[in-house]
Amino acid sequence: MTDNSELTHQQKRAFQPEKLSAPRDFITPSIIGKNKDNVPLVVEIGAGKGKHALGFAVQNPDKHLIAIERTRNKFEAFSKLATRQNSSNLDAIHADAIAWIVHAIAPSSVAKIFILYPNPEQQNPNQQWLNMPFFEFLLSRLQVDGEVTLVTNIEAYLDNAEQQATKVWGLPNTRQRVPDDSQRTHFEVKYLARGEACWELNMHKPEGYKTRFDDWQTVL
Ligand SMILES: C[S@@+](CC[C@H](N)C(=O)[O-])C[C@H]1O[C@@H](n2cnc3c(N)ncnc32)[C@H](O)[C@@H]1O
Repeated sequence: MTDNSELTHQQKRAFQPEKLSAPRDFITPSIIGKNKDNVPLVVEIGAGKGKHALGFAVQNPDKHLIAIERTRNKFEAFSKLATRQNSSNLDAIHADAIAWIVHAIAPSSVAKIFILYPNPEQQNPNQQWLNMPFFEFLLSRLQVDGEVTLVTNIEAYLDNAEQQATKVWGLPNTRQRVPDDSQRTHFEVKYLARGEACWELNMHKPEGYKTRFDDWQTVL
């Protein structure tokens, strides 16, 4: 196997968005393409049962959150609560986030991306978000000065992400420990209650940042 760890993102194998078909029952929320008031768009990948998404929508009425969850039973729990809460600035989406983002999100249109307690993928590190060619596509969707927030209880996951953010993706970043009383997601509550340390990495897209997908868009 070739060791790609020292390549910058422009030298890595490129993600191939044209190979992904639209998710089943694909619909784009009305905020996409009709965001006339330029409300900051926020995307959450792997929202689980939606604890963070539901709280974020209430606490940030000036922003619009699209929260995506792939697993059916988690999404159904999330969707039920989202319907009850009825926040006009929240869309709960049942889909694989990779295909959905490729088909729905325009370049340079997202202010912030949350990836909270992703699956650890310790047996298959190629599936960790910052190791995936898709991450370059994801960065192309971020606005200049946009941020990606990654949180995990697996220190080795965060160590790798921090290294990839700096060396491969060229993103200024900061790392911090999650306060013990934080309760943003169900997994966060569970890990902190067990006395585990949780870690957060905030990555910033600087002015002039280029990806190979800056002009790539499906016809909406
Ligand atoms: C460990 S759980 C964390 C859920 C939630 N963020 C929390 O902290 O409570 C990871 C979640 O990411 C979802 N997920 C993983 N890959 C995904 C993808 N490509 N698209 C959408 N959701 C995904 C899984 O279904 C799972 O619910």
